[in-house]
Amino acid sequence: MATRRLGIVMHGVTGRMGLNQHLVRSIVAIRAQGGVTLPNGDRVMPDPILVGRNAEKVQALAREHGIARATADLAGALKNPDDTIFFDAATTQARADLVTRALEAGKHVYCEKPVADSLDKALAIARLAKAKGLKNGVVQDKLFLPGLRKLRMLREAGFFGRMFAVRGEFGYWVFEGDWGQPAQRPSWNYKTAEGGGIILDMLCHWRYVLDNLFGAVKSVSCLGATHIPSRVDEAGKTYPADADDAAYATFQLEGGVIAHINSSWAVRVRRDDLVTFHVDGTHGSAVAGLTRCFTQHRVNTPRPVWNPDVPQTIDFFEQWEEVPENFTYENGFKIQWEDFIRHVVADTPWKNDLLEGAKGVQLAELGLKSWAERRWIDVPELKI
Ligand SMILES: NC(=O)c1ccc[n+]([C@@H]2O[C@H](COP(=O)([O-])OP(=O)(O)OC[C@H]3O[C@@H](n4cnc5c(N)ncnc54)[C@H](O)[C@@H]3O)[C@@H](O)[C@H]2O)c1
Repeated sequence: MATRRLGIVMHGVTGRMGLNQHLVRSIVAIRAQGGVTLPNGDRVMPDPILVGRNAEKVQALAREHGIARATADLAGALKNPDDTIFFDAATTQARADLVTRALEAGKHVYCEKPVADSLDKALAIARLAKAKGLKNGVVQDKLFLPGLRKLRMLREAGFFGRMFAVRGEFGYWVFEGDWGQPAQRPSWNYKTAEGGGIILDMLCHWRYVLDNLFGAVKSVSCLGATHIPSRVDEAGKTYPADADDAAYATFQLEGGVIAHINSSWAVRVRRDDLVTFHVDGTHGSAVAGLTRCFTQHRVNTPRPVWNPDVPQTIDFFEQWEEVPENFTYENGFKIQWEDFIRHVVADTPWKNDLLEGAKGVQLAELGLKSWAERRWIDVPELKI
């Protein structure tokens, strides 16, 4: 069994996602386990070079995680023929240009979502990758959440009968930063000019979740809102938060399922988890959070009686049965990295390409349009 090296240019790894999920939980973990195993038994060892604006910061990060290479010279890194993959987890706005540069330099690319801040740009990079014959991929991490993997299993087992409705609740309170509690998310998320907004951020996710688990998205109606118009940034400065911080969206899916997903950074949580999907079908219903999933079969469905004169006696939560933890679920970002590395090196199948990423941006754009024009909008098929 041979072990071969794979050079990866990693950009944006000082950020929340880049550092925690992509560097530490994925690449560092893969290196610690001895690399990625290919179908023929050979192994691939990622050899990243960390790239960031501040050379000292990325060098310190590299040292901390036992990584040999770091630089502030992105152009130089893209010139090195020994590094064959470019990865980006920096800001959404800069992504399409960076990915374009990497593709022009002949790199395979893998990146965070959204793949671009407009559909035109998203399609342009998908086309460029195709024209150059380079491998490409986008993060679709929610599909790997244990809760959603359990939902997929229920669906494949026929548990739901005919599925007809999905209710998603995503969100939690993001502190404004002005009364003693600092904000727990970067300020660019709340500024339109910097690529912020929950519709662009979350409808990208909901596109692949809905397409893959419940039916292809055919139509969208979305109402956005900016509930908190002023926030305090990382430097303690008050700024106008002009981007949408909540989205109330309904989707019609192929096969007749109606999905409604609320996404909000201005909601206080009283539910099972930070995201929950409640799925109803003729034979059963299920509610999945990030990790856990509860079911109620038709034969276990209670018969509640509506009587406002008597306090509720039923504990509705008690009547659901939990799907057991029959597997160990690995970190979804790491699974995707391993799959993408195998795809690049051994040409194994891979579905989550830049065109799939563009579909997410398409749904976000149509969601924003639906909100602006106060109407339902059909989702056309995307081709490159
Ligand atoms: N998959 C997910 O669940 C998920 C979750 C959150 C964010 N994201 C995406 O990940 C990306 C980063 O989000 P985040 O929350 O980690 O943001 P963040 O603000 O924590 O990190 C941004 C990164 O970009 C770098 N950066 C900023 N401006 C730059 C510039 N001008 N030049 C070079 N580098 C620059 C920063 O140094 C940092 O490394 C976004 O595209 C976001 O949509 C994905």
